This record gives sequence, structure tokens and C-alpha cells, in this order.
Amino acid sequence: MPESVIDLRSDTVTKPSAEMRRAMADAEVGDDVFIEDPTINRLQDRAAEVFRREAALFVPSGSMGNLTCIFAQTRPGQEVICEEAGHIYNYEMASMSALAGVLPRVVQGEDGILNWESVSKAIRPKIYYRPQTALISLENTHNMAGGTVYPTKVANEICDKAHDAGIAVHLDGARIFNAATYLGENVAEMTKKFDSIQFCLSKGLGAPVGSMIVGTREFIERCRSIRKMLGGGMRQAGVLAAAGLIALEKGPKRLQIDHDNAKLLASQLASIPGIKLDAAKVQTNIVIFDVAGAGWSSGDLLKVLAERGVLAVPVDNSKVRMVTHLDVNRDQVERAAKIVRDVFQR
Ligand SMILES: Cc1ncc(COP(=O)(O)O)c(C=O)c1O
Repeated sequence: MPESVIDLRSDTVTKPSAEMRRAMADAEVGDDVFIEDPTINRLQDRAAEVFRREAALFVPSGSMGNLTCIFAQTRPGQEVICEEAGHIYNYEMASMSALAGVLPRVVQGEDGILNWESVSKAIRPKIYYRPQTALISLENTHNMAGGTVYPTKVANEICDKAHDAGIAVHLDGARIFNAATYLGENVAEMTKKFDSIQFCLSKGLGAPVGSMIVGTREFIERCRSIRKMLGGGMRQAGVLAAAGLIALEKGPKRLQIDHDNAKLLASQLASIPGIKLDAAKVQTNIVIFDVAGAGWSSGDLLKVLAERGVLAVPVDNSKVRMVTHLDVNRDQVERAAKIVRDVFQR
């Protein structure tokens, strides 16, 4: 593999900046299980402030954040409505069933985006001999649908009508700041109707580790116990929170660069004969394209690209995902597109 690898597998591959590493080395720490880590407390206060909520909780991963929120809002035997290609259904090891004892009830969205009409059909009738719908979970942006964004009006309608039906709504907002950047809206305003929110510091925002849950104080205290039960009490994790604070302050401001790079990548890939990709649909930092038209399987293509220094991941047998992030620049994105073109034309 060439030395100058262009790693487009995910926005999780970013390395902490020099500023983050300095802040990590200098972080004031304490035992967070005793709620005595000043840097974690600062990060939690700041996350709550950004989302205009009462409280927040630092968790080791987005997966644990989602599971904790599901645990807190369901009972075993109940159902969680989520999107068919969603992360909680496909990439979290069936934890909602294995650990929280709930059943996912999947609904197909349009480009991953659900609406009240589709969701409402999946809500169980309130009959004692049927499982009950406890929670609806939305993913914004939607990862495997290509970083697609919920119009706030659509998300708000789902929240309002779910609440009328006595159902809570969770937001898997792993990339909610990408959605806010695309919409030009404020994250607090966009997400104000959700009962629980999980967002990742370790994706586009650039922290090495960590996610946040935000909600009411009472909800966060419930989540704190659940996090401990799941093994997520992290002691002197202020060293991680120090990087998280920088990610939260500085990360959102530069996401437009990743979106511009993704647009550029998409338009260049879309012009390659044999690639199926609608560049106009790329809204944020994720580009998914189909390579079967040129006779490639995604696995074979990815092997050849890796030999030439471009890394990406398969979505399925014919689709490939590339993600832009703060450790790839415009020049590298153009080089990656050129390498794909060369491979397709050889
Ligand atoms: C939409 C979405 N939700 C949740 C997660 C889980 O985050 P983590 O990898 O930190 O568990 C991811 C990770 O890629 C994701 O893309």
C-alpha cells in the first residue's frame, strides 16, 4: 500500500490534533464515577448549554449512548421503531434486543428519512395482548443512506404526533452537527422536541473518543445508572473530555469544508462511466455510489483501490461508501477521484 494513504472509510479515523493532545496532557481529572472529574463536568455542562437542555452525560461511544437512551425509555418486550438501514438496527450488535430486551420494528424511509405517515403505520394498537411501541428512533444524518438530513419540520411532526400517542422519540444524532450545517440551523432549535439525543464527538467533530447524551436532569440521572450498568463508568476520563471540549467548540465550524469536499468527490465520481451516483443528492460528508454497472463488486474494487492508496468501505456487494473529514483535504479528495477513474478506465 502506498505511504500517502487517503483514508475515506469514515469520519471516525481522524487523529487528535496537536491542540487536543496538549489539552489531554494538561487535563484536570478526578474520579467520574464519584462525579468528580472537572473536565468531564465542564464538557457535560457545555453540551447541555449548546443543546439548551438541563443536563448531559459523557459516554464512551455512540453505540453506548443509543443503547443507554433506549434502556432508559423502554421496558423488555416493547418495540422501538427505527429505519431499516439505520445504525441502531444494523451496526450495534442487536444490543437493544440482547441487552434492553426490546424488539426493533423497522420501517423503510426515503433515502433513510422517515415521516409520520410511514412511522404511524408501524405503531402497535394499544391492546393488552400486542407488544407496545415505546420509542421511535430517528437517525440524523442518516449514515448508510448517504448522510441524508431530516427537514426539521418532518422530525418535529414525528415528535409532536408521537408524543400525542404517548410515545417517546430518540435522536441518533451521531452527525447532528453535519445536519445543522447543511440546514444552516441551530442544533438546539432543530432537536428541541426529541426526548433524548445522542451525538458523537468522535466523528466529524474530530475527538478521538466519546459521545454525549443530552436531556432533562432526571433523564440524565437515569442514564448515569444505566451507563454504569453497561460498564461505562470511566473514572479519570477527563483526558478524553479535554479533547471532546475542543471538538465541540471547533468541530462544527469547519464541517462545511467536509461537505464541499464530499460534493466535489461526488461530482467527479459521478462523471466516471460505470459509476451510479446522483451527486445532487449528496448533502453532507458521506458519498455512496454503485459500481456494479462496470462489472465490479464493491469488495474487489476496494481491494484494488487500497493497493493504490485509497481506502473506503462496502455498503453491500455493489455499493461503496466514502466519507470526508478533517484529515482529508480537497487535494486528496481530487486525487482519490482520479485514482478511481484510472481504475475504471484501465
Ligand atoms: C449514525 C450512527 N450512529 C451511531 C454510531 C455509533 O457510534 P460508535 O462507533 O461511537 O459506537 C455510528 C458510528 O458510525 C453512526 O454512524
